[in-house]
Amino acid sequence: MLNVTNIESYYGAAKILYGVSLHAAAGEVVALLGRNGAGKSTLMKSIIGLVVPKAGSVSLRDQDITGLPPFAIARQGIGYVPEERRVFTSLTILENLEAGRQDRPASGLAPWTPERLFALFPNLAGMRTRRGGQISGGEQQMLTIARTLMGNPSVILLDEPSEGLAPKIVEQVADAIRELKAAGLTVLLSEQNMHFAALISDRAYVIEKGQIRYSGSMEDLKANEDVRKAYLAV
Ligand SMILES: Nc1ncnc2c1ncn2[C@@H]1O[C@H](COP(=O)(O)OP(=O)(O)OP(=O)(O)O)[C@@H](O)[C@H]1O
Ligand SMILES: [Mg+2]
Repeated sequence: MLNVTNIESYYGAAKILYGVSLHAAAGEVVALLGRNGAGKSTLMKSIIGLVVPKAGSVSLRDQDITGLPPFAIARQGIGYVPEERRVFTSLTILENLEAGRQDRPASGLAPWTPERLFALFPNLAGMRTRRGGQISGGEQQMLTIARTLMGNPSVILLDEPSEGLAPKIVEQVADAIRELKAAGLTVLLSEQNMHFAALISDRAYVIEKGQIRYSGSMEDLKANEDVRKAYLAV
């Protein structure tokens, strides 16, 4: 579904990604793990087109999308939930969802509606007319994911979805991601700490200083203390 091959990304003259490759098959949940500043967000931005890689390629269903503007990449079927969430604070929850509505080329997946999203995130169902600025951080995280799903992506990129959330909310977000997988979506999520990722991911990549240092099944990574100690906060 998603293929990243040998990308090199920069901010100005500063080289951040050094030949990064990863892939995600249809319906897979893949974790990108790494410490602060390892390059997780830069990799996600390089996939969605906010950063244009200077070398290497990104493809979706074998179609090259490298260098396309973000809106065009989104239209091809990649949804992006940034680290900063960015809900529309003055719009209601329902209006936030409508703002994300987009018809996509047939993905073969069932289309999302506000009602289907309220079933996925029951917390939001009772607050449809509340403004985005008047809900908790956890609810904002759910709302951003829901708003992105309104665009009916085939692949969703979640940048540190559990960051700063209360344990109970983290569990709800994990449940929702499991349901996305069951619904056939492909999920790439970044995380600093592997506990949350381990709950939901099939495979993992570990990134450090802009290079992939490890890749394997989540089971293998859990058993690999050396890699965890060297590159992760656990
Ligand atoms: N806009 C920018 N301009 C210049 N350098 C940047 C910019 N954004 C990030 N960097 C640098 O790029 C490197 C990778 O940052 P990135 O945000 O991708 O890391 P991250 O793995 O997402 O970290 P975190 O877990 O803190 O979100 C860091 O050294 C960071 O300081
Ligand atoms: Mg980041």
